[in-house]
Amino acid sequence: MANRPRVFVARIIPDDGLEPIRAACDVEVWPNELPPQRAELLRAIEGCDGVLTLLTDRVDDEFLDHAGPGLKVVSNFAVGFDNIDVPACTRRGVAVGNPPGVLTETTADLAFALLMAAARRLPEGDRYVRGGQWRTWGPMLLLGPDVHGSTLGIVGFGRIGQAVARRARGFGMRVLYHDLSRVDESIERELGATFLPLEEVLAQADFVSLHVNLSDETRGLIDTARLRRMKPSAIVVNTSRGPVVDSMALFEALRDGVIAGAALDVTDPEPLPSDHPLLTLENCLVVPHIASASRATRGKMAAMAAANLLAGIRGERLPTPVNPEVHG
Ligand code: DGY
Repeated sequence: MANRPRVFVARIIPDDGLEPIRAACDVEVWPNELPPQRAELLRAIEGCDGVLTLLTDRVDDEFLDHAGPGLKVVSNFAVGFDNIDVPACTRRGVAVGNPPGVLTETTADLAFALLMAAARRLPEGDRYVRGGQWRTWGPMLLLGPDVHGSTLGIVGFGRIGQAVARRARGFGMRVLYHDLSRVDESIERELGATFLPLEEVLAQADFVSLHVNLSDETRGLIDTARLRRMKPSAIVVNTSRGPVVDSMALFEALRDGVIAGAALDVTDPEPLPSDHPLLTLENCLVVPHIASASRATRGKMAAMAAANLLAGIRGERLPTPVNPEVHG
């Protein structure tokens, strides 16, 4: 059909998003599990009115040049948008959207699951059973710390950090947090959370859960010095972005007993190669960036990403814009 907008969707996403896009546009969907190589991506977006990107697709001046002047919108299928040069998009009047909010609870669920799994050594226990080592009930077998009644330090106290705090309340945990600024006192009261300087949160926490955006300020935030601030019994949970933690510093801290454990949904590099030193450690649990991976949440993310894409193509303000100034 003539005059339908041209759109590239950089991976197969749930039908909640693909169907409305297919109904309104001429769509090319990248069919493979692996992302398009850079050259393939740049070819695919040529002449597009809109592109639906994933966190593996870098959107920068080169991308915008290839897409051409007809590009109106980049809709990211991830709440984090560190893959997008937003100022470059804004300069060219290209709207950027993301799906905030819908994955908050699902991501907090996984952060808490990782915390529990690392504390109670679930992956090690599973490996022990499958490895044929389980011969009797052992009074000293796979001991770990209690989660209930312990102290949780939350670094980054936005939507997801606060959702983790709500879960922690149910476990009778003491909740400390750090962010650029304090949240409203009523939220602190509701969540039983206490604001402290970062170094204090790290020093007092039994579990440290990271929920900051990736930026120049947070890249390498958890480095050797900060790991040394933590208790030797501390467990670090990262569901934010891999580069927030210095991977080699974490490896050395886990290997040398500076801290007790780590549970990572995100890594640097990502994906983590199977021969990475972190994967030689029993006290490091790694899952493949699945924090938002519930069926319901991925469906909602797809629907929101589609709604942003279609609004941008129509020249309307996006329902959930990253750079609303594009539409004045
Ligand atoms: C996001 O949305 O930023 C997650 O990391 C991917 O689910």
